[in-house]
Amino acid sequence: MKILVTGGAGFIGSNFIHYWLKKYPTDSIVNLDALTYAGNLENLRAVENNKNYKFIKGDIGDTELINDAVKGVDLIVHFAAESHVDRSIMDSGDFIHANVEGTRVLLDAAKNNGRIRFHHISTDEVFGSLGLKDKPFNENTAYDPRSPYSASKAASDHLVRAYFHTYKLPITVSNCSNNYGPFQFPEKVIPLFITNLMEGKKVPIYGQGGNIRDWIYVDDHNAGVDAIIKRGEIGETYCFGGNCELTNLALTKKILKLMGRGEEMIEYVADRPGHDLRYAMDYKKAKNELGWAPKVKFKDGLIKTIEWYKNNKAWWQNIKSGEYKQYYKKNYFDRTGKSVRTIN
Ligand code: NAD
Ligand code: TYD
Repeated sequence: MKILVTGGAGFIGSNFIHYWLKKYPTDSIVNLDALTYAGNLENLRAVENNKNYKFIKGDIGDTELINDAVKGVDLIVHFAAESHVDRSIMDSGDFIHANVEGTRVLLDAAKNNGRIRFHHISTDEVFGSLGLKDKPFNENTAYDPRSPYSASKAASDHLVRAYFHTYKLPITVSNCSNNYGPFQFPEKVIPLFITNLMEGKKVPIYGQGGNIRDWIYVDDHNAGVDAIIKRGEIGETYCFGGNCELTNLALTKKILKLMGRGEEMIEYVADRPGHDLRYAMDYKKAKNELGWAPKVKFKDGLIKTIEWYKNNKAWWQNIKSGEYKQYYKKNYFDRTGKSVRTIN
């Protein structure tokens, strides 16, 4: 099978490529990624020389490029997106371009090139915000996105389903809760807090730290995507969750404890505008129909993640200092140029 992975230089996409090539070594993967601030080819060093792996630098909004890239592909797994809520609050333009327009371009290319099987990666944030006593989200929950990020993801989910109903494009969708693990960009709360503590800096909790997220280890998410690709029903949506709801304060205390630091390292800062109170996922459908459930216990996943950041200081220090972009500019391409350079 030949798979086009979009956004494979980001956090979940790069973990997916490692997962897939290990489990299905005879499949081939083309990773198409624009290498925005969040895309980092360091994440793929271990597969760079694998003959079944190829990288294309490109924007999913580039119709001509995408039409070329999908030729001969059996499956598209679409991770590429602008993914950080705080950035979407500062400026939503890139979010509409990548998440909405980029998804449309990909869908059209899939439709016009033999109706290529299309799996769309989405988030629980499209469902809005739960009260403390509300039941978790499931596949029937009405959409109620409340940040520019989640609104753009919601739009992309609707487009994907519209292409199924209108054009019979063989799609599936997954909505997953908050991921954590190796290669996560240190702007998201877990890697930000781990790396801040390693640098001796405080960890900024928004508001009072009472907001709740459900945490899932990235490999569990990717195992769910695998299950959908192999056993999912075309046209269907599956919710994935980690069965691990934590307030941000409880999460922070766990990180502090595992890193041997005290609560004096917490700094309470201004709250995020429109900060969703709580996300939680009911993944019964995935469990019953795909035989999927998250396997990694939060404490084990968090220990593994902290270890990874301890052992890969250069990776995140380069990011925090901004040096990594210079490296790619020098060694691979000029990001401002239009031309696409293929590595490997
Ligand atoms: P990320 O920000 O780490 O990676 C996104 C990748 O997409 C980057 O490599 C970036 O260069 C690439 N990209 C962005 N715009 C592009 C464009 N126009 N063309 C080509 N490539 C582009 O994000 P992530 O956390 O790995 O998230 C991946 C997907 O999973 C997203 O669709 C996100 O909405 C979804 N998701 C994330 C989480 C989470 O907790 N991180 C949870 C559920 C769903
Ligand atoms: P984040 O990792 O940005 O993911 P999302 O907003 O997509 O859920 O944030 C997770 C939670 O942590 C969210 O409730 C906001 C909070 N948070 C902080 O308290 N401080 C921070 O510095 C960041 C980045 C997030």
